Amino acid sequence: MFNQNKIQMIRAAMPAVTHAVYLNTGTNGPLPRRAYEALVDYARDEFENGRTGQPVFDRFMALMSETRGLVAELLSCAPEEIALTHNTTEGMNIALLGLDWRAGDELVTANTEHEGGLNPAALLKARYGVNVIYTDIGLCDCDPLASLERALTPRTKAVVLSHASWSTGAILPMRELCEMAHRVGALVICDAAQACGMVPSRVHELGVDAYAISGQKWLCGPDGTGALFVRRELLPKIQNTFTGYWGLKTRVTRAEAEIEFVDTAMRYQYASHYFPSLKGFAESLKWIRDEIGWEWVYRRTRELGQSAYDALSKIGGVKMYMPRAHIAGLLHFTVDGIAPTDLTAKLYEQNIIIRHVPEPLLNRAATGFYNDEQDIERLVNGIRALVK
Ligand SMILES: Cc1ncc(COP(=O)(O)O)c(C=O)c1O
Repeated sequence: MFNQNKIQMIRAAMPAVTHAVYLNTGTNGPLPRRAYEALVDYARDEFENGRTGQPVFDRFMALMSETRGLVAELLSCAPEEIALTHNTTEGMNIALLGLDWRAGDELVTANTEHEGGLNPAALLKARYGVNVIYTDIGLCDCDPLASLERALTPRTKAVVLSHASWSTGAILPMRELCEMAHRVGALVICDAAQACGMVPSRVHELGVDAYAISGQKWLCGPDGTGALFVRRELLPKIQNTFTGYWGLKTRVTRAEAEIEFVDTAMRYQYASHYFPSLKGFAESLKWIRDEIGWEWVYRRTRELGQSAYDALSKIGGVKMYMPRAHIAGLLHFTVDGIAPTDLTAKLYEQNIIIRHVPEPLLNRAATGFYNDEQDIERLVNGIRALVK
């Protein structure tokens, strides 16, 4: 049983979840008050007191270091393996473009992937002549391990898959997929935009080589926040495509000087953050860790997902897409006679926020740790009323 007082505390701290039936964390999570206030305070301080001077510099250096530490704790890795990014897509680009691609090299991905992974893969094809192999991994009738096994060859350099699929909700068996990819010498570059904060993301246990996350989704941070994990021993192998102020040990001002990257994944950071946003992200992570607890979040998200799954399955005309055991908090479904785009729009009129995804064309509802049983009931009643 989940403590109702705790759920009330969470909901009181996230006004957006009482403003509407908020079932779309897969796009953007609700902001907790603590993050919002920290962001506003930081922005106000910059406005009133300026953005220069040693204390200001010291403050944002400390903030970057704290945030990398918080992300490392969440992913159970070392802070040295974390680069701060502005979103998942940036992390996917850094990791994918960093490999030494040659014409004819192969990259295995899936047609269910998000553009955050698909588009850098397509870019590699256009730019270097990489063969991109599109599997059906993530679709409900595809066995991911068998499919990956068929796709891998000695020329496979990277496998690009999502830990949790945005388009079907499938949670992939990353550990087994990584072991298989590693047997042919391929790296696994994992899109964790939907997984991180929804299911445990212990990167070393998963076996991933790179893991890109978003701050603004299941971690309930502001926009413009995210991170990239790169396994320590791969830092030399995933080369820099971009570099800037944060990435090098020393200034390069003479022709004979060698470029020397910092020894950590911070080498990949090249574009500064909007610091109020980063501050908000750090506060979201601390709020969830300290006031709620990550294990509680994962359990609550999955259990609410399962009870929503059961309730939706009972509505005549509703077809759930993935088997229940393969998902956590992202539920995909169709309703007979109502196009997914129309269902999203009609529920929105009832103040119920879900979405649809394009391929396969499905509706998607996301159960977050802040949802309650009434939210699920309102979704179910909303759909029932439309089916009638
Ligand atoms: C699986 C997946 N990858 C990447 C993204 C893009 O996220 P971001 O804006 O953080 O790059 C999304 C956003 O919906 C997603 O679902």
